[in-house]
Amino acid sequence: MTISELEFLQSPVGQQVFQDFFDDPQAVQSPERLIMKLRKKFPAEVGAVIHQIKLHHTAPEKLGDCTGLILTQAGVEQATRTEVSGHVAKRYRKFSSVTDGTAGIGADARSIVDDAGQVIEHDLVIAKILEHNLSQWRPESSISVREADCLDPEIEWGNAVYLDPARRDKEGRRTAQMNLWSPNLYQLIPQITDQTHNIGIKISPATDWEQVDKLGLEYEGEVIAWNFRVKQTMIWTGELKSEVSRRATILPDTWSLTDHDPVENISVTPAKTYIVEPNNAILRAGLLDQFCTRYGCTKLDPHIGYVTTDTIPEFESDHVARAYRIMDMEKYNVKHLKKALNGYHGEGIELRRRGFPETPDQVKKKLNIPDGNDLTVLLTRIGPSLYSIICEKV
Ligand SMILES: C[S@@+](CC[C@H](N)C(=O)[O-])C[C@H]1O[C@@H](n2cnc3c(N)ncnc32)[C@H](O)[C@@H]1O
Repeated sequence: MTISELEFLQSPVGQQVFQDFFDDPQAVQSPERLIMKLRKKFPAEVGAVIHQIKLHHTAPEKLGDCTGLILTQAGVEQATRTEVSGHVAKRYRKFSSVTDGTAGIGADARSIVDDAGQVIEHDLVIAKILEHNLSQWRPESSISVREADCLDPEIEWGNAVYLDPARRDKEGRRTAQMNLWSPNLYQLIPQITDQTHNIGIKISPATDWEQVDKLGLEYEGEVIAWNFRVKQTMIWTGELKSEVSRRATILPDTWSLTDHDPVENISVTPAKTYIVEPNNAILRAGLLDQFCTRYGCTKLDPHIGYVTTDTIPEFESDHVARAYRIMDMEKYNVKHLKKALNGYHGEGIELRRRGFPETPDQVKKKLNIPDGNDLTVLLTRIGPSLYSIICEKV
């Protein structure tokens, strides 16, 4: 978005166009055609208003009520889901001057930064959008908005800091490589720890712990899932950190497991009656042994995240794990699997994998069977061998 598009969006004419066309299906389905029509009457910036309408139809699913906000495609993509940032914000409540150093369009800042806090954003247009959005979300607050590079050594960080770096490389591709993010955390963190150790950093759940270790912080790593989808990892230091080093949190129920939970040596056994597939957040946090200890499961392979049991565990939340009753388990062979599936007259199958080299889509093509979720085929590896496990959800 350009400054002139932003100004037009904020102008009475821009606002009126927004209202007039908000319910026009063309604005969402064929915005370019509508823009062509409107450009006869309005300046070129009218395109930004129509694109804004489209964003306002989709963003509320992630960000809640967006009335009065200015959104950007990248801003919505990068923003944290409201319920997740609400969870993250809880740890900041005890602090009185929080700085969000990479505030973007302000979706996190709205719940994390206190009324006397500050938000920083280095992109001129985004900083103006941020200011606008905070005046909508937090009209009573006196949060200070700074258009600045957070690597500026003059910045005063207050007593707690939130960071959500842009996790893209120079070509704009998403990356889990921390040294390619903006700002560079390896440069920024030592500058902040000169002032405060109370830092929370949102990172990609695909970033390995070794990269985090290199920041030289004593930290808690919290892997957060929304239902079954792993959304992000939070790195917590200083007084934001709890006593644990690793935590898996599953929202919306705020179910959690940590490295301080009881843990036994988990044996590797042949498959029992059921296969259990723990939420990926548990695996990413490295807490499979704690999971097996809590729910009485054994492993099929020391390194694979499908585990097995004769009794279906009672999970405290629906999204802790999926459980399946085994119907047929064989060494993976497409012909045999196809034949075995022909014996079942379900509507379709769902394929899932852990530790298996081919993607479910690649295998599905070979099997040539319809999608569905009557039956599940788990594709996995036990020792050196690949297996397919036909099962039904329980
Ligand atoms: C992932 S987005 C933040 C999203 C934000 N947490 C939200 O909820 O809307 C990262 C933001 O950091 C900004 N940024 C990147 N490098 C920066 C720097 N050195 N100083 C300040 N802001 C920076 C980017 O422009 C981008 O808007």
